[in-house]
Amino acid sequence: MTETLSYDILIVGSGLAGLRAAITAASKNKNLKIAVLSKVQVMRSHSVSAEGGTAAVLYENEGDNIESHIYDTIKGSDFLADQDVAERLVNWIPSEIIQLDRWGMPWSRRDNGRIDQRKFGGYSFPRATYAQDKVGFYEMQTLYDTCLKYDNIFFFNEWFCTSILHEGNTFQGFTCIEMKNGNFVKVVAPSGIICTGGAGRIYSFSTYAYSSTPDGLDMAYRAGMALKDMEFVQFHPTGILPSGILITEGARGEGGYLINSEGERFMKNYAGEKLELAPRDVVSRSMITEIQAGRGFKHVTGADCLKLDLTHLGAERIKEKLAGIREIGIKFSGIDVIDEPIEVRPVCHYMMGGIHSNVDGATEFDGLWVAGEASCNSTHGANRLGANSTSECLVWGSITGELAANRALSKKNNIPSTDDHQFLIEEKRIYDGIFRGRGDSNPYEIRKNLTDTMDEKSYVYRNENDLIEGLKRIRSLKSLSWKHVDDQAKEYNTNFINVMEIDSMMRVAEIVLMGAINRRESRGAHARIDYPNRDDNNFLKHTLAYHNSDGEPRMEWHPVVFTRYAPVERKY
Ligand code: FUM
Repeated sequence: MTETLSYDILIVGSGLAGLRAAITAASKNKNLKIAVLSKVQVMRSHSVSAEGGTAAVLYENEGDNIESHIYDTIKGSDFLADQDVAERLVNWIPSEIIQLDRWGMPWSRRDNGRIDQRKFGGYSFPRATYAQDKVGFYEMQTLYDTCLKYDNIFFFNEWFCTSILHEGNTFQGFTCIEMKNGNFVKVVAPSGIICTGGAGRIYSFSTYAYSSTPDGLDMAYRAGMALKDMEFVQFHPTGILPSGILITEGARGEGGYLINSEGERFMKNYAGEKLELAPRDVVSRSMITEIQAGRGFKHVTGADCLKLDLTHLGAERIKEKLAGIREIGIKFSGIDVIDEPIEVRPVCHYMMGGIHSNVDGATEFDGLWVAGEASCNSTHGANRLGANSTSECLVWGSITGELAANRALSKKNNIPSTDDHQFLIEEKRIYDGIFRGRGDSNPYEIRKNLTDTMDEKSYVYRNENDLIEGLKRIRSLKSLSWKHVDDQAKEYNTNFINVMEIDSMMRVAEIVLMGAINRRESRGAHARIDYPNRDDNNFLKHTLAYHNSDGEPRMEWHPVVFTRYAPVERKY
């Protein structure tokens, strides 16, 4: 007999979006039972790693304004953002900043006690609201503390969701593995929200936690929903060497700058006005251009890099505002940024793409929403501005929590009656297909090969030959017999979970490459040296990828929503 748990709302993922959604839903009605299912412990969600800020207009009296934040976001997106969505983000986020403040968020303050904000790339005003350089950690702590005040939020930590149960296009629940005992469980509810974050571990050089694999995206894709704009992968300019750990843009916001091997502050040649505070796509491309022109440094590992210089900021300012990255520098590269510039290079940091959703975060399934980085409601188009991601998590956590609660209330006492058919098919897929797999290739070597291929073939600058070669490699890896799980224990079988993660990485890496091959233009973070210009006539549209039973994704296009700004050339 299948073990079935029943709730009113199921939230998969316990990062910022998931926790924010849970609070909104729980506060709507105390009779709603909300389950938060996460493959990690709450405070191990990748959101804790967010460093630099949450963008919001707080000080209109000092010259900032909502329209400017909307325009910066749309221009930053290279005009691929859905403009109604950007408007929603910008209008909503200020109230979230204040709400967090009331819940106890330790925002950094000005001398007069008001919440402080710092400069970030691509903005016309300092609007990254920060808490030293550990914004995500403090936001998560604040939201988690708040969740614990609600008796109707139930945490299922270390539960790995494997598939979506649905009847036609109506959501019914998830299948999950309870990792501590290996039980395979069905969890049902009238409403669900996917908040599983980004999938940046499909790259080797990455700022993401090792757990940031595409399980959530893949689950939606396999169920029949589209993944949108997956070719747009953000490379953050400053990943520390050799690990790729993030050195926050806040370091440049506080006045740090990039130098080449000739000691030149080279950004003046690429973005004369904004310099290092141009958007990330512009800065990352400029860095790679410098390296290709022979003006880079060599890290001891042999990797090409540039240097980020903070020494002029002085010890006091660094200790007060950038203590986290100072610690990262000392521990992970042996450099104290107070004394020496630090070696950095562009690193996979964010995916603008995700599960196709609309301005409300609604997916193509009734009763299922998506929030945060797992979603692609098209707030960020082809390039996200720094600090707009934690904003997005808070805003759509809140919106989807409300909508999921409304539906759950309208369906109260109306538990989805799932039959066991899908559950049994999924059980067979993962236990016969993966757990009992005896493939002859080492899945960890396959994973490394996959992520190295993405680093090599689908990085800051792309071209058709590399992308096609990358796709061939991923497909040949996919065709190998690599589903091999050595550990046959039921309890905490991370070997089994890892191989399932790799399974999802295969499909999602393929979609990133196919999207990148099809988009024969350069827009935002997608820079094709063989098609160096933006092509609004042919490509001012979103990419959709649907699962096909023959294995290769079916690619479609989807219109962009314009409400106020026609595309113009981006200059910074
Ligand atoms: O650089 C950073 O602190 C990253 C922020 C972001 O991705 O929004």
